[in-house]
Amino acid sequence: MSVPEAATERVPLRPLVVAAAGRLAEAGVGSPMFDAEMLAAHALGVDRMRLALIPMIDAETAGRIDHSVDQRATRIPLQHLIGTAPLGAVDLAVGPGVFVPRPETELLLAWALGYLESRRFAHAPIVVDLCTGSGALALAIAQARPDADVHAVELDPDALRWARRNADARIAAGDTPITLHSGDVTDPFVVEHLTARADLVVANPPYIPQDAVLDPEVADHDPHRALFGGPDGLDVIRGMVPTIARLLRPGGATAVEHDDTNGGGVAALLSAADLTDIAEHTDLADKPRFVTARRPSNT
Ligand SMILES: C[S@@+](CC[C@H](N)C(=O)[O-])C[C@H]1O[C@@H](n2cnc3c(N)ncnc32)[C@H](O)[C@@H]1O
Repeated sequence: MSVPEAATERVPLRPLVVAAAGRLAEAGVGSPMFDAEMLAAHALGVDRMRLALIPMIDAETAGRIDHSVDQRATRIPLQHLIGTAPLGAVDLAVGPGVFVPRPETELLLAWALGYLESRRFAHAPIVVDLCTGSGALALAIAQARPDADVHAVELDPDALRWARRNADARIAAGDTPITLHSGDVTDPFVVEHLTARADLVVANPPYIPQDAVLDPEVADHDPHRALFGGPDGLDVIRGMVPTIARLLRPGGATAVEHDDTNGGGVAALLSAADLTDIAEHTDLADKPRFVTARRPSNT
């Protein structure tokens, strides 16, 4: 049987990737070469760093790369096209209906893991992730700390479905299961059974001021409920701070990510809730990014 010519045709990979990066740059994509390489690596089923070892590819794979580059040029998020986004040592499945975890949150995660590492617990440390989305922070902490009892709260049923899928995948990978809760973090009774029991509460809530101008990847593809925090970006955080204060055991700590305009505002809210040791932290671009605080040990 003769093999159709198109199936045997081979094309050089590097020029295809360079041309793809050019198309993405024209479409306004912020990191065109990285995205072109990631899409090629995804189509080939290899790590991006291995692309240099692949001089030629078949025409069918080249067609699939071209198609995904066309999609990316319409500003569909890269992570939706490759199907995952990383946080810590965990790859989260993401797509329409759930917020894509961001690199900025790695800093809050690193602080949280450092905090857990610095303490000696007489019990399994209880960690609560408020506004969990895909389950990102909860699952990254559970992966790094198999001894922890990790809980995650989310309001949106679509996001919760992604979190459930990711939690199941992490169980299959051998991680300690987390407990997912459907709930509103501003509800005074949310996860009531954990009141005054949490050693650590982390949150990356919706915090963008409502008039902010956003890239199409964000504005058109992240759920609006995941993004916006009212006129000043603080609506959900304002309602969530009493929940944080209630959940923390004496001596317990919290870390809350926020818009770069709101470091002082979040610090003031945590202080008004009688939390102490308040510290503002910046991100890699030196912008205010998250605030940490502690419930005093003697309360
Ligand atoms: C910015 S996303 C962050 C998701 C995840 N923590 C991460 O870092 O990838 C905020 C999440 O909070 C959820 N959310 C918004 N308001 C909420 C509320 N009042 N109670 C619980 N979850 C809420 C949204 O649905 C969204 O999944």
